Amino acid sequence: MAEVHIREALVGDCKDIFRMVKELAQFHKIEVIWSNEETIKQDGFGAHPTFKCIVAEVPPESKSADGHTLVALALYSYMYSTLRGPSVFLDSLYVDSEFRGKGIGKALLRKVCKMTLQEGCTFMRWFAVAWNKAATNFYLKEGAQDLTIKDDEHSFGFSQAAMEAMAEHSEKRLVTNVS
Ligand SMILES: CC(C)(COP(=O)(O)OP(=O)(O)OC[C@H]1O[C@@H](n2cnc3c(N)ncnc32)[C@H](O)[C@@H]1OP(=O)(O)O)[C@@H](O)C(=O)NCCC(=O)NCCS
Repeated sequence: MAEVHIREALVGDCKDIFRMVKELAQFHKIEVIWSNEETIKQDGFGAHPTFKCIVAEVPPESKSADGHTLVALALYSYMYSTLRGPSVFLDSLYVDSEFRGKGIGKALLRKVCKMTLQEGCTFMRWFAVAWNKAATNFYLKEGAQDLTIKDDEHSFGFSQAAMEAMAEHSEKRLVTNVS
């Protein structure tokens, strides 16, 4: 049994982080992604980081068939709610297919929970596509709740185009009937 090191990512890990981000996108059949190695470097390790990342590292003798020793990641950012307090949004959880089912995904989730609780986060949320039953079953097994079912909430969003359309009509002053 090899020891797997679960640790915070370092700036030198950006190439591997981006590789795994791409592999996760491929898993989801997403062909075009916004990020690249440089945005990972800037946004995760620059002057004002907007995400954090935990990685799983195996010793060189246990490297993947492709020769990688970084074999999994959990990448997350923060949200704020006046009702519920600060929270964590899990953007990406990925374990290289060769290393699945060995407790690495669970170890990453545990580490994210430990670190963000220490920072004052009060809850954690994320999305899983409906067809990804393996991930859904994994999350449920680890004690997560399916909030779509539990809260009967719809998740809303603006695309960039919709944001631009809204922004175009943004006014400093609004003339309207408020009487
Ligand atoms: C989902 C994923 C992160 C799980 O990581 P993992 O390292 O394979 O899972 P673990 O080995 O840590 O499993 C932890 C526990 O969950 C269980 N589990 C794992 N996959 C499961 C599944 N498909 N169904 C039910 N239980 C599952 C394990 O049996 C284990 O239980 P145990 O602690 O009692 O032994 C990983 O399989 C993965 O990267 N999948 C592809 C990408 C993906 O789907 N990411 C999530 C996107 S939302």
